[in-house]
Amino acid sequence: MRIAMGNDHVGLELKPAIRDFVESKGHEVVDFGTNSSERTDYPIYGILAAQAVASGECDLGIVICGTGAGISIAANKVKGIRAACVSEPYTAKLSREHNNANVLAFGSRVVGVELAKMIVEAWLDAEYEGGRHAKRVEEIADYEAGCWDPKEHTPHA
Ligand code: RB5
Repeated sequence: MRIAMGNDHVGLELKPAIRDFVESKGHEVVDFGTNSSERTDYPIYGILAAQAVASGECDLGIVICGTGAGISIAANKVKGIRAACVSEPYTAKLSREHNNANVLAFGSRVVGVELAKMIVEAWLDAEYEGGRHAKRVEEIADYEAGCWDPKEHTPHA
């Protein structure tokens, strides 16, 4: 697969090792930076990587900042992106199987390099299951497209 990667200056602490790991698993990495330790802004790199996934240039994306929170919030502003911010492999795996997450986010100040590799491996090896999960993922897409309103679908309210 072609994997888009994006990170800020804090995420750069983990990015080279993760880029090497992804490549060692046979994937191609498209690196949107930053590759400088100079202070910068995570939305730039989160959105660039997310745009590459949304356009189809890349199959999936991996984004890294200090916590994973800021860069996942930024990536999720790109239409069609489902970015999951995770800190362990179980959620990483299920974010693909159930939520069809197309961007993975984590924090270089939250996870160490070996745990980050386990997270990435679990995520890349998992596959979207569809089935009962498809309706929920479609509801998110329909809300984004402006044609679904949860106020009209609240059976337990
Ligand atoms: C940068 O200091 C830091 O705020 C950023 O890497 C990230 O953690 C934001 O969510």
